[in-house]
Amino acid sequence: MPMLTHLHVSRIMVNGAIPSSICGITSLGILILSSNQLSGSLPHCWEKLEALQILDLSNNSLSGTIPDSLGSLGSLLFLMLSRNSFYGELPSSLQNCSNLRNIDLGENNFSAELPKWIGKNLASLGILRLRSNSFHGGIPLEFCNLSLLRLLDLAHNELSGAIPHCFGNLSSMIMVAPVNQFSVNTSSISEQIVYMDGVTLRVIKGRELEYDKNLRFLVSIDLSRNHLSGAIPMKLTNLLGLSILNLSANSIIGKIPEKIGSLRRLESLDLSRNQLSGEIPSSISDLTSLNHLNLSYNELVGRIPSGNQLQAFEDPSIYEGNSKLCGLPLSLKCQDNETHDQAPNHVNEDIEDDEEGFELKWFYVSMAVGFVVGYFGLLGTLLVKKGWRNACSMYLEGIIDRVQLLWRN
Ligand SMILES: *[C@@H]1O[C@H](CO)[C@@H](O)[C@H](O)[C@H]1NC(C)=O
Ligand SMILES: *[C@@H]1O[C@H](CO)[C@@H](O)[C@H](O)[C@H]1NC(C)=O
Ligand SMILES: *[C@@H]1O[C@H](CO)[C@@H](O)[C@H](O)[C@H]1NC(C)=O
Ligand SMILES: *[C@@H]1O[C@H](CO)[C@@H](O)[C@H](O)[C@H]1NC(C)=O
Repeated sequence: MPMLTHLHVSRIMVNGAIPSSICGITSLGILILSSNQLSGSLPHCWEKLEALQILDLSNNSLSGTIPDSLGSLGSLLFLMLSRNSFYGELPSSLQNCSNLRNIDLGENNFSAELPKWIGKNLASLGILRLRSNSFHGGIPLEFCNLSLLRLLDLAHNELSGAIPHCFGNLSSMIMVAPVNQFSVNTSSISEQIVYMDGVTLRVIKGRELEYDKNLRFLVSIDLSRNHLSGAIPMKLTNLLGLSILNLSANSIIGKIPEKIGSLRRLESLDLSRNQLSGEIPSSISDLTSLNHLNLSYNELVGRIPSGNQLQAFEDPSIYEGNSKLCGLPLSLKCQDNETHDQAPNHVNEDIEDDEEGFELKWFYVSMAVGFVVGYFGLLGTLLVKKGWRNACSMYLEGIIDRVQLLWRN
């Protein structure tokens, strides 16, 4: 059937391998074989399917490596291979699929370093989901060039190194643009799948169901359960559009950024199971959209901030495993001196933050100016007024006498 443009065979328990004769359907724009029992490896003839825009083979038992020829699909927009048993590296030929908007390779056995070319050449990418594989090594700085990226899910891998500071430059996570109108509807007897830029919805008999909770239209970064270290980059708080941030189960150290409260759209913040220290910034109570918070199993200290949305979090388990945290909802009462003493924290803030450094410099400059003015103001007055000078030196002598007395006793 070389004229076929849509082939949608889903959830009907088709089994066996994908025959290479499928490459004879040269007009094919949409190929959806998701949620069946397909097995074996992929055919090696993809260069013939020049028009293919959607390839969805997710949720089968396919295995083997991704063939190089997949990289010839210059029109490809959606590459959905999640929930299979693919392994190995991603072929570098995939960087030629420069129109890709959505890559979902989650829940497979890929093991490689994250390719830098994803950030260099796949500039249209809105969703990158590589969750639950064995990707290792660091997160390439090139990923910060993905200016349309709205969902980054690298959770459950073996990634190490620090979270790149340049993540604060992911522009689609700063300004939340309306969803791109690009969409493809594919109909079958029982259901319709709507592939929209950034979202994939499965519509059954007119009712919208979420295809996958992680693919909701949300701005999300999930780096949980890796081996990431270093501090949370201050610049991450630039991502004003962020609705989900999950950094749980890594080895992240340092403080929670002071400006965390500027992420006003944040609905879910999970920083549990790391080695975060210091106090919880009081700005966290500015997160009025928050409906899930978890700071458990860190090394946080001091009083739990209160106010606004934070009052709604009554479950003490979200703070547990921080033996030096106190205040409600924990049963440990704070000592009186453990107040919201947030001001001096600025000194320890990320030195990379230019703005903060600037403010700090002015603080010291104005302190010096204040000191000079005050000192010479007093000295000048003493020089001019003889009576005050005498009074002052008598007072100072009195103090010195008393100190000497204390010393001898
Ligand atoms: C995966 O496919 C099976 C049928 O093979 C289906 O029952 C299940 O709901 C599918 N899972 C997802 C997440 O689509
Ligand atoms: C972020 O983007 C700005 C402006 O485009 C650039 O000057 C800066 O170097 C970038 N920062 C990082 C860490 O990449
Ligand atoms: C964050 O990630 C961890 C590990 O992947 C998971 O157990 C947890 O449920 C996630 N948190 C939220 C709020 O989804
Ligand atoms: C918070 O995180 C811890 C550790 O990751 C987990 O055991 C606990 O169930 C989470 N609590 C909530 C309320 O999600």
